[in-house]
Amino acid sequence: MLEIKNLRASLEEEGKEILKGLNLTVEAGKVHAIMGPNGSGKSTLSYVLSGRDGYEVTEGAAELDGQDILEMEPEERAAAGLFLAFQYPVEIPGVGNMTFLRTAVNAQRKARGEAEMDAATFLKVVREKAKELKIDAEMLKRPVNMGFSGGEKKRNEILQMAMLEPKLCILDETDSGLDVDAMKLVADGVNAMRSPDRAFLVITHYQRLLDHIVPDVVHILANGRIIKTGGPELALEVEKNGYADLIEEAA
Ligand SMILES: Nc1ncnc2c1ncn2[C@@H]1O[C@H](COP(=O)(O)OP(=O)(O)OP(=O)(O)O)[C@@H](O)[C@H]1O
Ligand SMILES: [Mg+2]
Repeated sequence: MLEIKNLRASLEEEGKEILKGLNLTVEAGKVHAIMGPNGSGKSTLSYVLSGRDGYEVTEGAAELDGQDILEMEPEERAAAGLFLAFQYPVEIPGVGNMTFLRTAVNAQRKARGEAEMDAATFLKVVREKAKELKIDAEMLKRPVNMGFSGGEKKRNEILQMAMLEPKLCILDETDSGLDVDAMKLVADGVNAMRSPDRAFLVITHYQRLLDHIVPDVVHILANGRIIKTGGPELALEVEKNGYADLIEEAA
């Protein structure tokens, strides 16, 4: 589903290279976790894949189901099925949460040549999914993320994901800031969406989340590269021993 080859990317302004020849393959139906030290390039990878401004890809390729996504606009990538739940969700004053969701869902449907979701169906579906995530009706009416608590913002990202039904879901530290019960809700939401034609890239610092969202594969990203790939046991090893040995081993 996702095939990244020798990806190099720099910050446009500073020219500083962050991703330094990163290789990663994520198969359909799988959950891949990415762990790695602060500042190693995990969020940068998610931004470069989703098309955020400010990064220059200097080498390599990234394909989603055989389509070169690096050449596409962010909204084209989204319509192709890529979704990013932000590490730091942004507040959008003046744009109602519900309006935002409905506009996004229908823009993607339109881009794919599908019929728009009518207002009644949308309302029914959004209410259902919001309820599962314990997001109350009042939060759906407020502007996107405005005045939401840290944990509420993270759950709102998962609501967006549930509504958009992407092919490739990237979750950038969605667990950070969530209380134990909210983390369970988010994990349940993710697990309910696992399917043979969907894949997840779950960025996290903690094994704790991976107890609930059991990954098929775990990667360690350090200094802009994947330095080790293994099974769920790799996350346990990191929890116990940290990254120093793994980084030394890879050097
Ligand atoms: N706009 C920017 N200006 C300067 N440095 C930047 C900018 N964006 C990213 N960086 C640097 O790029 C490096 C990688 O950052 P990134 O956010 O990808 O790390 P990360 O692996 O997600 O870390 P964390 O686990 O703390 O979220 C860091 O050293 C960061 O300071
Ligand atoms: Mg990050």
